[in-house]
Amino acid sequence: MDTWKFYDVTHRYHEVCNPTSRAKLDELVGLLRLNPGSTVLDIACGKGELLTRLAERYEISGIGVDISPYCVTDAIQKLRQRVPGAQIQILNVDGADYSPDQLFDLAMCIGASWVYKGHRGTLSTLKTMTKPDALILIGEPFWLKDPDDAYLVAENLRRDMFGTHYENVLVGEDEGLFPLYTMVSNQDDWDRYETLQWYAAEMHARDNPDDPDVSEILTRVARGRTNYLHWGRDTVGWAMYLFRKPSHAN
Ligand SMILES: C[S@@+](CC[C@H](N)C(=O)[O-])C[C@H]1O[C@@H](n2cnc3c(N)ncnc32)[C@H](O)[C@@H]1O
Repeated sequence: MDTWKFYDVTHRYHEVCNPTSRAKLDELVGLLRLNPGSTVLDIACGKGELLTRLAERYEISGIGVDISPYCVTDAIQKLRQRVPGAQIQILNVDGADYSPDQLFDLAMCIGASWVYKGHRGTLSTLKTMTKPDALILIGEPFWLKDPDDAYLVAENLRRDMFGTHYENVLVGEDEGLFPLYTMVSNQDDWDRYETLQWYAAEMHARDNPDDPDVSEILTRVARGRTNYLHWGRDTVGWAMYLFRKPSHAN
């Protein structure tokens, strides 16, 4: 089935497609303290919740990029409803193919570092898209403990895909960035993120019995449920990492 349809169905009830609570997201938005006129880039912006909150709180302009047509439609609709007239453009393109013609005051990539081949690649790419003294915000998993081989196989992951929380910060420092803040999710945040997918899949199956993809959706979600409860819940953490680019950088 279409990958983006699968995520659209399983994330139907998520505002943000990552394990950050509403309260933590609000706190983070407050800490950004963007000046009027700031420019913001969100690579893999999902349903545009973070951009929308930023536009509600600050006088910004910005660009959101996402490969999923479902996410792009949701993001545009959300912005129109909540911040009519916001100077935010949402583009339906692959982040890897997107090259901006301006530098930004804040660049973000939350939960999609594969676009730039991992955490380090994402930081180094966002550095090239930002002004000196800019903020860079990344959402990235980290290992809570050494993952079981069986978990890696079940989820088609490699050990070297993620670092520890400490390593995620160190990579930023190694890229010449100053770590300003980390917003770490707890098990409640993870449980909400994961189990809302079970709920959404079941609701979709109930409401759309004729959808030919229902069986595959339920099978994939059931597999994810087992992997999460068996291994993932104790193995993978999640944090948002806020870095500052030095003022002398270009
Ligand atoms: C885990 S979700 C995070 C979404 C959003 N940043 C958030 O936190 O709510 C990952 C997002 O990456 C998008 N995505 C996946 N591959 C992409 C790519 N190559 N270029 C742009 N977006 C991509 C998906 O459509 C999805 O919206």
